[in-house]
Amino acid sequence: MNRIKIVKGVVAVNCHPEGCKEMVRQQIEDVKSRASIKGAPKNVLVLGGSSGLGLASRISLAFGGSANTLNVSYERPPTETETGTAGYHNNLAFQAFAKEAGLIAEDFIGDAFSHEMRSKVINYIRETLGKIDCLVYSLATGVRPKSNGEGKWKSALKAIDNPFTGNFISFEPEAMIPVTLEPANNDEIEATIKVMGGEDWQEWIEVLKDADVLAHGFKTIAYSYIGSDITYPVYFGGTLGKAKEHLHATADVLDIALSDISGQAYVAVCKAIVSKASVFIPGLSTYILALIKELKERGEDESTAQHMHRIMHDFLYNPEGVSTDEHRLIRADNFELNPAVQHKVKDMIKNINPSNYKDPAIGDYETYRQQFSQINGFEVEGIDYK
Ligand code: NAI
Repeated sequence: MNRIKIVKGVVAVNCHPEGCKEMVRQQIEDVKSRASIKGAPKNVLVLGGSSGLGLASRISLAFGGSANTLNVSYERPPTETETGTAGYHNNLAFQAFAKEAGLIAEDFIGDAFSHEMRSKVINYIRETLGKIDCLVYSLATGVRPKSNGEGKWKSALKAIDNPFTGNFISFEPEAMIPVTLEPANNDEIEATIKVMGGEDWQEWIEVLKDADVLAHGFKTIAYSYIGSDITYPVYFGGTLGKAKEHLHATADVLDIALSDISGQAYVAVCKAIVSKASVFIPGLSTYILALIKELKERGEDESTAQHMHRIMHDFLYNPEGVSTDEHRLIRADNFELNPAVQHKVKDMIKNINPSNYKDPAIGDYETYRQQFSQINGFEVEGIDYK
């Protein structure tokens, strides 16, 4: 098993299992050092809980709220020659730490879009937990099998109406490359909504409700990104934004559908983080490395675990109620969208180009790069890589 970091472009070919475990441990310790969640859910299902915002949600609710957690994720186990994916090792690490803490933690590896997976999860809930009090929807993927079994929807990362050129940062070879996204056609917009919109979230809630495994007062949350005018053409104004608009509308549909069990459904608008999904988005990489620098300088840079714990503690499980904007969205992107921050970020981005993007004076590429390494278990403090 090769444990030397191998990256192609922005894809980590391998991971470092001990590094992944240590990263999970550090996030758990961080959450444990913060205020615990009052009225936290007892039993939680996380869809997409092996990495990024989903893993952070699981850590927050388990270690900041003593919740039992089930997680459905699509990850590859190790073989004799390969390490498997970081998410696979994150799951193993989380399970070990949760069990040590006396919590139930179960992982289902496979396709969250399949009927078989839904049945398996429902059976497990019935046999082990009875009901769940919370469902976190945090899948990020480019494909979704069609429900009739005939082919797949493939999402498109594209602009709408006009082409968009943004910088894509490759880690190996290290380079900043301008990439132009063509405007999407209607089929591509439709397919992206199918993959990353709210339909699958709604289906999960409906089958779980029909199976009578949702507890009274059940809550569900999914994650969105809106960003600012800098990221608008590639994100909220592009195909992904159309999918997120659908997700936002789905929260309202679900909120009504859950009213008979006093349930609630929300979307939280999160800050931009370095994740295995976000590093693919042209234009977003330069934006994130400038954002990291500015938020760090202001002392407002949150790790993924800290960000998610704030969402759970201050918003979703706030004893005084869930505060939202006028569109019923939880706005946890407030530090990022502060006009003063955006102004500085815009100034930095204006000066970033392929020959200077690593310069610490105009952005924080080093942290951006290191965070990518760390989500794959490399460059983690406390691990002896020799
Ligand atoms: P991630 O790539 O770190 O995690 C995605 C998760 O989905 C993993 O657990 C993966 O195993 C799981 N998954 C993917 N396909 C699956 C399938 N077919 N069956 C079962 N599990 C599957 O992604 P990240 O960045 O944490 O994104 C999660 C959500 O948060 C997405 O909706 C994303 O749009 C949203 N978001 C992300 C932001 C960012 O900056 N990364 C900012 C705001 C929202």
